[in-house]
Amino acid sequence: METDRAAALAVVVLAAGQGTRLRSERAKVLHRVAGRSLVRHVLEAARPLAAASTVVVVGHQGEQVEAEVTSAGIDGLVVVEQREQRGTGHAVLQAMPVLPDSIQWVLVLYGDTPLLTSDVLADLATVAGAPVRMLTTMLDDPTGYGRVVRSTDGSVAKVVEHADASAAERAIQEANAGMYLVRRDVLATALERLEPRNAQGELYLTDLVALARSDGHDVEAVVAPSETVAGVNDRSQLAHAAAVLRSRWLDHLMVDVGVSVIDPATTYVDVGVEVGRDTVLMPNTILEGATRIGERATVGPNSHLTACEVGDDTSVHSTRGDHAVIDAGVTVGPFTHLRPGTRLARGAKVGSFVETKKVTLGEGSKIPHLAYIGDATVGSGVNLACGVVTVNYDGQTKHHTSIEDGAFVGCDTMLVAPVTIGEKAYVAAGSTITDDVPPGALAIARARQTNKEGWVERSSLRAQH
Ligand code: UD1
Ligand code: CA
Repeated sequence: METDRAAALAVVVLAAGQGTRLRSERAKVLHRVAGRSLVRHVLEAARPLAAASTVVVVGHQGEQVEAEVTSAGIDGLVVVEQREQRGTGHAVLQAMPVLPDSIQWVLVLYGDTPLLTSDVLADLATVAGAPVRMLTTMLDDPTGYGRVVRSTDGSVAKVVEHADASAAERAIQEANAGMYLVRRDVLATALERLEPRNAQGELYLTDLVALARSDGHDVEAVVAPSETVAGVNDRSQLAHAAAVLRSRWLDHLMVDVGVSVIDPATTYVDVGVEVGRDTVLMPNTILEGATRIGERATVGPNSHLTACEVGDDTSVHSTRGDHAVIDAGVTVGPFTHLRPGTRLARGAKVGSFVETKKVTLGEGSKIPHLAYIGDATVGSGVNLACGVVTVNYDGQTKHHTSIEDGAFVGCDTMLVAPVTIGEKAYVAAGSTITDDVPPGALAIARARQTNKEGWVERSSLRAQH
């Protein structure tokens, strides 16, 4: 939108309702789909409009909703409270006093329509046509939506809520999407005259349409595709919205970026997760939050990564990763658990049944199988053999283990922290290491083996042989 229009535009987002039909303790607009709250999706769709002012009306769990919308980092965003939820018209009334004088147009959005796209909003907001412009959509089953009643000349006459609609009105398939661009003076005049004379005893914003018409203003309806304006009222619609958002993001990754998704139906990628070209996402892969995957990587099958950074040319097979950083050329899995604070440098390898936490693993180092490595700094070119455990916890405090460059730790070794294994040192298999091992030394810390010759012949076990 050009700058002068953006300077005169305010976006008002209604987010005060509880969302009774969701049957949840949490306010509806805070429910998350495809990695973002419902209200955040709405704010992101409106962001490119660069409106001078954005007002979010909060009420139910207002503090949490305020924290959520503030974290979006939108310039000129203000939060106002609607103490009692007396309807969508009443909600917009709360926003009017905080609008700057320069505002001439108000775009009203509902916080429970996460499928909204910037393109649809641009269509609604760019043309300065009628003083009231609204989005509608054609639905096979418009149950629950307000119906758009048109006059014989085809113009929009009014919106009737489902609860108030006659049988004939309920048969109308054109539904009110709940997004309106209204000239400020027309909106202000209509809001003053709203009355709660309806089935729900609320001040309906939708009555704005009939009021504007009765004042002689044109009301223009823009019919939008239903998959961009559907509202979320119950858990089934919540799941549907999540599926649509994920599928849109996967299409973007496949078509615009060049990511191969072997089975989109079993690949769950949050909106905003970046994946580089020629990367392959195998089935049953979940990528969440601030996750970023580089180019030419293979992720999955069966990998679940939350807020992980994964470099180019990596392979992450059957892995749970949470806040882990995986550099280029690293191989992880199958069956690996990378917990927060894990950092794997270029060319490292972490294999099956290995758990890591707060670990820096240096370049080319390997933990190929069956190990727990936590609170540790591991240098480059280190080999931690099968069954190595950092004994990091004494029941009260966590202690650190340092393993320097080129060290080799044999199978089934307990490293009782705090402890340091020096550069290029060796630790013999089966050791329990409680003291530092100097660089280049061999540490053996286990009971010496005794063989008792002829013991079986002499023992009571003899009968069994
Ligand atoms: C509303 C519309 C309906 C439309 C549908 C589209 C009205 C009266 N009806 O119905 O015509 O087809 O959306 O999805 O507007 N809210 C407040 N304060 C309130 C009441 C609601 O902030 O006092 C917020 C809610 O948090 C929600 C939004 O407004 O984000 C819409 O409210 P909701 O109760 O879901 O309206 P619908 O019944 O879906
Ligand atoms: Ca709704």
